[in-house]
Order: sequence, then structure tokens, then C-alpha cells
Amino acid sequence: MLVNFNEMLLNAKKEHYAVPHFNINNLEWTKYILEECQNLNIPVILGVSEGAAKYMGGFNTISGMVKGLMKDLNITIPVCLHVDHGQSFDTCKNAIDAGFTSVMIDASRHNLDKNIEITREVVAYAHERGVTVEAEVGHIGGTEDNITSTETNATLEDCEILYNATQIDSLAPALGSVHGFYKGEPNLDFETMHIINEKLPIPLVLHGGTGIPADKIEKAITNGISKININTDLQVAWSKKVREKLATDSEVYDPRKIIGSGEEAIKERIKEIVTLFKTKI
Ligand code: 13P
Repeated sequence: MLVNFNEMLLNAKKEHYAVPHFNINNLEWTKYILEECQNLNIPVILGVSEGAAKYMGGFNTISGMVKGLMKDLNITIPVCLHVDHGQSFDTCKNAIDAGFTSVMIDASRHNLDKNIEITREVVAYAHERGVTVEAEVGHIGGTEDNITSTETNATLEDCEILYNATQIDSLAPALGSVHGFYKGEPNLDFETMHIINEKLPIPLVLHGGTGIPADKIEKAITNGISKININTDLQVAWSKKVREKLATDSEVYDPRKIIGSGEEAIKERIKEIVTLFKTKI
């Protein structure tokens, strides 16, 4: 069933596990993720960035695709369809109107007052329609959708101010994680993470899940992270297999065989990732 993330994440926060957010890129990606999460009987959040939405045709196309796949494949696990890093009220509104059950409004490139103003507008529209809202404080750096940005860490004070002013449902505080690959060991501020988690009643989100070693993922979950976003990891696993396929089979031209050669790699990584996250229903 298509749900917002509240039921998934409130329980995850209470019981110290994390729900995976996997970014989707196309129909195959969505199908593989839904099939594997159903197979493992775990909840999943499908994340759609603005770039991915544009690539796939738009929010209506994606919403129809996800609902269709869930029906045709008999998907019964809780699935949340979520906008990843929505940059404006209009993006979030369009996704909600198309049937998304959750949105992230990322107004973190603005100052705190402006971030609050935009986030409040999104929360008002979303909550009236039973849709959950994630926001970002500080700014998560790295590269996503081919856009590179610089990181600024969140402070407890800013997180509290934004939460109290907006009543968001989850928060992604920038605490050292970055999108894409890390240069060296990720340097996560677990101390601030712990304090933010103590002070705020809502679940916390860790972006940039690719490349964070297992012990740091475990520590993040212990310190209140309930949702972990993964994108690059599955892309790397898939493209490695597709490259191998093309290099070893010079006759192949059927796109289903080329794209499908990465299916098992994606499913295998999902299994490993959610074992680490201790995800459960
Ligand atoms: P990675 O690409 O580093 O896994 O980050 C994904 C993410 O945070 C999406 O919001």
C-alpha cells in the first residue's frame, strides 16, 4: 500500500532501525526495488529527485507507474512515494497533486528565515492532504543530479527553530554526510546528531548513505537516524554489471537484456543494505 512515511519512521525511531530510501531512475529500478523489498518483507521509501522526475516524464507518470507496478506485482508492503530535495513549493505541490505521499522541501540554500517560510507553506499544503514533509537544515554537500554543492553543518538551535516554526514530520540535518562518493572517511558529527534526536520528537534522516562504513551506519541509527537515503550505491552496482555484459556479449542489442543484466546486482545490494539498517515492518 502507498502510505506516507509517518507509520514507518515513527516506529523506526522508537525501535532503533532505519527504513531505506532508494532513489528511482526508471521503471526497471522501481520494479527491482519493489520486488526485492516485498521479498524481504520490509517497508521502503522511493525517492524521486527533480532531475529524475524530469527524466521519467514528470510526477504523474511516476505516480501512475508506481501504483501500476504495485497492483500488477501484488506489492503489499508499505511503500512511500517521496520527492527527494524538492526545491520549491511548486515542485512539492505538483508531486502531491500527482499522488505522491511524501515530500522533502529542500530550501536549505536560503537563510533560515526563508527556509522556514517556504517549508511552512509546503507543510500547510501537505498536511491538509495527509502527506508527510521532510526538511533540511544546514546544507548537505557533494554531487547529486550532476549539481555539486558545498556543505554547511546544521546546529541544534537552527533545527529547533525550524521544527517549532514548521511542524515538519522529519528532518535531515547536515552533519558531515555528502551525496555521491566520499573523499576519505566520512566525518559525521554524531554528538550533534544525538542531541538533535533527544530534543526533537521527529525522526532524523541521513542523506548520502553511499560509502558510509557499516560501523558509522550503526552508530547513526543508534543516535536517532531512522531513514537513510541511498542513490549512488545502486547506480554503481548496476552499471558495473551492465558494463560487464556489454564487454562480454558483443551481440546483445535487446534493451531488456542490457538493462536487466544489472537486476541481480541491485537486488543483492538492497539485501545487504537493509540487513545493515535492521529494517523491519
Ligand atoms: P548517495 O547518492 O550518496 O547515496 O545519496 C543519496 C541521497 O542522499 C539522496 O537524497
